Amino acid sequence: MIETGTDIAYAAKCIAEGKLVAFPTETVYGLGANAFNPLAVARIFEVKQRPTFDPLIVHISEISQIHDLYDSHISDSVYALAQAFWPGPLSIVHKKSAAVPDIVTAGMETVAVRMPSHPIALELIRLSGTPIAAPSANRFGQLSPTRPEHVQKQLTDVAYLLKNEYKMVGVESTVVSIQDGKCVLLRPGAISLNEIQKVVPCTALSKESSQDKLHAPGLLNSHYSPNKPLYILDGDIDHLPLNSGVVLHQKRTDVTNASRVIYTSETHNSVEIAANLFIALHAMEDDTTVSQIFIESVEEVGLGVAIMDRIRKASYRYR
Ligand code: TXA
Ligand code: MG
Repeated sequence: MIETGTDIAYAAKCIAEGKLVAFPTETVYGLGANAFNPLAVARIFEVKQRPTFDPLIVHISEISQIHDLYDSHISDSVYALAQAFWPGPLSIVHKKSAAVPDIVTAGMETVAVRMPSHPIALELIRLSGTPIAAPSANRFGQLSPTRPEHVQKQLTDVAYLLKNEYKMVGVESTVVSIQDGKCVLLRPGAISLNEIQKVVPCTALSKESSQDKLHAPGLLNSHYSPNKPLYILDGDIDHLPLNSGVVLHQKRTDVTNASRVIYTSETHNSVEIAANLFIALHAMEDDTTVSQIFIESVEEVGLGVAIMDRIRKASYRYR
């Protein structure tokens, strides 16, 4: 069991000593290490069993820290996005400075940076005295964690796990890349493309860019998956196989033969759906009466784009 508590100063000491800390952010739990300590960062990949071709996001607590992370010529679009959305769930990929270790960026010329808005995350980064490299605190390819028990279920060999007392968005940050004067959406997330386009015109996420190994090696088709078959529910709900778990986003009365029904929302409210999506999938994963999971799709507007992205990737192997 990972030692768990609320001692942010102790967690910061662990980071400064090159150890790993699992901490809440406003999106999902992160697994953090000192971004300038390559050995500590290497442990993240080991503990997550994550391939080293998948780069990490570096978390900061002060805007001035971008000068240690990005190359000296920072685009005006980066400043405009940072001003509009930081602290908050937007990761900005931009040309990196030589000081950022290659292991953080998987050898790429760019680094993803974000300033989280979660008070515990901000305090942890501030007290650590260093930017913190952190992927989501799950095993590679598995469900993202939004609760301490989700982290406990998947990881060991972590020095400390910080408890959370705040609400989480439930889906990861939006990832945009600013390069050669262009803005490209690499991963839909907590901030919608529409919101970003109000600040900087962005190219929408295309099928090609999600597959583009050069721009987004981690944005694989299959990801965020529970350890049981997950299918997107379409068609008739009364012909479910035995031992089915059903995840719904609005009240309905026609589900009669499921082993378990979990509502992320009763009114198709996308904020509630995002917040409860991974909680529902973790609960289905843990439920021994459930052998396969069915989940409703959502309308792809606003936050629904990120929710559907996660649902598609989580169910990728079962289509
Ligand atoms: O909300 C979040 O972003 C959470 C919290 C902990 O901050 N973090 C998170 O990290 O979701 P992770 O590692 O699970 O996802 C980061 C994604 C990966 O798909 C990775 O490939 C992409 O961001 N990424 C990171 N650096 C990149 C870069 N330099 N170029 C392109 N994509 C990058
Ligand atoms: Mg992740």
